[in-house]
Amino acid sequence: MSQTPQIEPLPAGLVHEPLNWLFAEHYRHRQLCRLIERVGTATILLREEVEEILAFLRQDMALHIIDEEEDLFPLLRRRCLPEDELGPLLGALSAEHRDDIEQTQTLSTLLERALIEGQPPGHDLETQRLFTDFALHERRHIALENAVILPIARLRLTPQDLHALSTRMAARRGVFLDRSDVALPLDDPDRSGAMP
Ligand SMILES: [Fe+2]
Ligand SMILES: [Fe+2]
Repeated sequence: MSQTPQIEPLPAGLVHEPLNWLFAEHYRHRQLCRLIERVGTATILLREEVEEILAFLRQDMALHIIDEEEDLFPLLRRRCLPEDELGPLLGALSAEHRDDIEQTQTLSTLLERALIEGQPPGHDLETQRLFTDFALHERRHIALENAVILPIARLRLTPQDLHALSTRMAARRGVFLDRSDVALPLDDPDRSGAMP
């Protein structure tokens, strides 16, 4: 990819602040939404942007959903008090994650075909709507998580929970956090603090 990426990289320092890390990921998802709308409604093929979206959907978006489904949401279910009434919302957000996985596969297929054919992916209004609807739903999902899920997590998760969350999210990306909290990439023990 020769042009400057439209989606900013994640700051490495956030590896020890899992809730800020998730918040920063949501900001990057908003950048993804802008890119998806632009590419999906363009009348020419924006090849580099298409490649950036495909890479983000395959890696960053997929990992983020696993971070929430396998780590953040189970921790919240364990720590939240009945008066938080979080169960139904977590259930609804999980259903949206399942939809996201399905829709990202549809978009990825359209984007891959566009690259092969050298044509814009949103070739008619109906196809363009798939891209704009995805961005719309994703923005709503992020807004809800930022407004409700992350504030409750800040309130209820213990320092041990946060450490466990950091460790698992980092490990998912090939970064090992040792006991002294120094981030060591698994494939290079001499480098510290880097995110892949
Ligand atoms: Fe989510
Ligand atoms: Fe999220």
